[in-house]
Amino acid sequence: MENSMTRYAMITGASSGLGLALAEALARRGRSLILVARQRDPLESIAVELTQRFGVEVLFRACDLGEPLRLSGFLLELEESERQIDLLVNCAGVRSHGHFLAQDWGHEQDLIELNILALTRLCHVLGNAMAVQGGGQILNVASLAAFQPTPWMSTYAASKAYVLHFSESLREELKKTGVKVSVLCPGPVRSSNRTVERLAHSSLPLSPEQVALQAVRALAKNRAIIIPGRRNRWLAAAGRFGSRWLVRKVSGLVAKAYAPH
Ligand SMILES: NC(=O)c1ccc[n+]([C@@H]2O[C@H](COP(=O)([O-])OP(=O)(O)OC[C@H]3O[C@@H](n4cnc5c(N)ncnc54)[C@H](OP(=O)(O)O)[C@@H]3O)[C@@H](O)[C@H]2O)c1
Repeated sequence: MENSMTRYAMITGASSGLGLALAEALARRGRSLILVARQRDPLESIAVELTQRFGVEVLFRACDLGEPLRLSGFLLELEESERQIDLLVNCAGVRSHGHFLAQDWGHEQDLIELNILALTRLCHVLGNAMAVQGGGQILNVASLAAFQPTPWMSTYAASKAYVLHFSESLREELKKTGVKVSVLCPGPVRSSNRTVERLAHSSLPLSPEQVALQAVRALAKNRAIIIPGRRNRWLAAAGRFGSRWLVRKVSGLVAKAYAPH
């Protein structure tokens, strides 16, 4: 990577779904981008397309963020490039759905490594760099599942509860550094084939583009918690104010109904 004074928005999980829609929404607003995901080919074609459509500089880096050593290498490379990143969007995330005991342990570990550890480490490294620069912004992607325990999605929902609480705490801690922190909590998004299949009969899902547009607008207003869709905001509130036993029963019934069989 070459050195320059351009300021970049770095988006993880930018090769598909919500991450891609967020990359497009930011490019549309003239932001220079650094896109990250594991597979190089989709990133390369997205970078070419966004540059052609919006005339912005788009760099990309293939990296498995769930592999701590690869993440270290990438972070070192970023530091040496001296590129200034003033917006970090932590969108890369994986799901796990079904009976906890039946899940493959390797996948559960990957989920924790990516959804929790990589996100936290990126906030630490880039948050420090932003504080030195005098400011910046971080958007962490959680989920509506962050607001309540969710049987049949136990690890996923717990990882997103971590993202929600961590982001809110960080927002307060970093106020005096000029680093603003927001957290995006989408409900179901029509972003992957499996999601589309599972939600085909549901009236809830928004498109990734709708979620990204609302997220980017709310980010500009420095909103703390961004929940796209009125019905989703109502559901998040119901999860917080309902009796806990009832909430976990209902969320478990819903999650089980959509679990892969
Ligand atoms: N879809 C929904 O209904 C929904 C609802 C609420 C919240 N969310 C959250 O929104 C985010 C995006 O979800 P999505 O449905 O849009 O996902 P998606 O379409 O499956 O995309 C996931 C992205 O993350 C990348 N990725 C996966 N593992 C990675 C790793 N180890 N290292 C680096 N990149 C990795 C993928 O690219 P590679 O495969 O090339 O690595 C891809 O770009 C996630 O955090 C998810 O939890 C989604």
